[in-house]
Amino acid sequence: MTSLLQDPIHSNDAVTGTGAIVSGRDNAISPAMPLIDPPVKPLTDGVVLLRPFTLDDVASVTNACQDPGIHRWTLTLPWPYREHHARDWIATHEENRAQGTSGQFAVVDAADDRLLGSLGFDQFDWEISTAIVGYWVAASERNRGVATRALLLGTSWALEELGLSELQLMTLIGNIASERVAQKAAFVMIAEITDHRIATVPDQRFHIKKWKRSARPA
Ligand SMILES: CC(C)(COP(=O)(O)OP(=O)(O)OC[C@H]1O[C@@H](n2cnc3c(N)ncnc32)[C@H](O)[C@@H]1OP(=O)(O)O)[C@@H](O)C(=O)NCCC(=O)NCCS
Repeated sequence: MTSLLQDPIHSNDAVTGTGAIVSGRDNAISPAMPLIDPPVKPLTDGVVLLRPFTLDDVASVTNACQDPGIHRWTLTLPWPYREHHARDWIATHEENRAQGTSGQFAVVDAADDRLLGSLGFDQFDWEISTAIVGYWVAASERNRGVATRALLLGTSWALEELGLSELQLMTLIGNIASERVAQKAAFVMIAEITDHRIATVPDQRFHIKKWKRSARPA
C-alpha cells in the first residue's frame, strides 16, 4: 500500500476549503511558482462555465456549504459553515493565484450564472508540474453531470493550458458519486491508502482512493 507520506507532492496537511482532500505543505510548494494565468478563453462547454469566484458568490457558497454531505466527503470545510468563511475564502483567491499556489473556479450555469459548485486546484508542485483537484456540487444540482463537466473542463485547462504533467484527486472510501466523477473524467485509480492524514482532522487516519490523470495517456 502506497503511503502519501512518501509521496513528494503530499507531505503534510492543509485546509483548502475547495473540496479537495489534500495533504499539503502550507502551499509553499516549490522554488519557481509561476502565476496561475486565468484561462485564455472562457472555460465552458455550453452547459457549465468555470469562472473566478467573486464576493457576489458569498451567499450562494454559504448556502451550498450548509450541506453536511460536502463536509463529510471533503473534510476540508469549516463546520458549521458561516458566511464569513465563504467571504474569507474567496478573498484569498486572487493572491493565491498570483503566487501560483491555488486556482479556484466557481462552477456556474452557462445560461444564467447560477452557482452550481466549486472546482479547485491546490498543492501545485511546479518542479514536477502537478496539482491536486477537488470539487463539490450544491445538493440541489447533483446527478446531472455538473461535476463531470466541470472536472473535464478544468482538467483540460490545467494539463493543456497551464502545462501540468499530472493531476491527482483523492476520494474517501464510500464516496461512490465522486469515484464515478473521477472515472467519467478519465482519471485512473492508482492507490488505495488506509492511513491518509488530513489536516483538519489530525487525530484520525482515513481510507482513501488516489486517482490521477496524466497529460499523456499512460
Ligand atoms: C461528488 C459530487 C461532486 C458529484 O457531483 P455531481 O454533479 O452529482 O456528479 P455527476 O452528476 O457528474 O456524476 C455523479 C455520478 O455518481 C452517480 N451516483 C451518485 N450517487 C450515487 C450512489 N449513491 N451510488 C452510485 N452512484 C451514484 C451518479 O449516478 C452519476 O453517475 P452516472 O453519470 O454514471 O449515472 C457531489 O455529489 C458532491 O458535491 N458531493 C459532496 C462533496 C464531495 O464528495 N466532493 C468530492 C470530494 S472527493
